[in-house]
Amino acid sequence: MLLHIPDILTRDEVAHFRHELDRATWTDGRETVGPQGAQVKRNLQLPDASPLRETLGRAVLEAVARHPTYHAATLPQRTLMPRFNRYEGGGQYGFHVDGAVMALPDGTQLRSDISCTLFLANPDEYDGGELIINDTYGEHEVKLPAGDLIVYPSSSLHRVASVTRGARLAAFFWVQSLVRDDSKRRLLFEMDTAIQTLTRTGGNAPAVLQLTAVYHNLLRSWAES
Ligand code: NI
Repeated sequence: MLLHIPDILTRDEVAHFRHELDRATWTDGRETVGPQGAQVKRNLQLPDASPLRETLGRAVLEAVARHPTYHAATLPQRTLMPRFNRYEGGGQYGFHVDGAVMALPDGTQLRSDISCTLFLANPDEYDGGELIINDTYGEHEVKLPAGDLIVYPSSSLHRVASVTRGARLAAFFWVQSLVRDDSKRRLLFEMDTAIQTLTRTGGNAPAVLQLTAVYHNLLRSWAES
């Protein structure tokens, strides 16, 4: 499921991120990928150990936690601390698949089910830089306003087109979901959305209750821990 969630960050929050990132020291983005990724990745990142990455990363996690749509769509179990990247001067990242298993700082591991990109520059600030996602329904080009998030399956092949003017700034991170299977997660999300709408619009209460029970019982049978 490809899902655009607008307004994860407010304008003021985006301005604060940009202020901090403009003064940051960046490093070669190839430090955090395997050999296949390193051949096609040309961008800059905040170093993993950078205190700024930790501070802004926490702010991103707090921001997504405020959004019920994010929670309903991802059903997060564990989340990798966000990283920050910068593409400029022809920077790009060719087609790749994100690593399936990632090490967490506490020595445990995360299975990447869902990839997330939070845009931190507005589309008119740079040319190129589209996130291009190849899934079973073909190729999708994504270039969102600053503060907006795209959520997509980590199993997809994807790339970032070359940035030929200006700079593209973004945060990115991975989620291990309680529900591993993308199609099951999508069904749950659609059911949840329908239940929210019925609740808001005064749908028949016993039917809403029954549907809510079905939702939770599906989640109970599909969730892994
Ligand atoms: Ni990727």
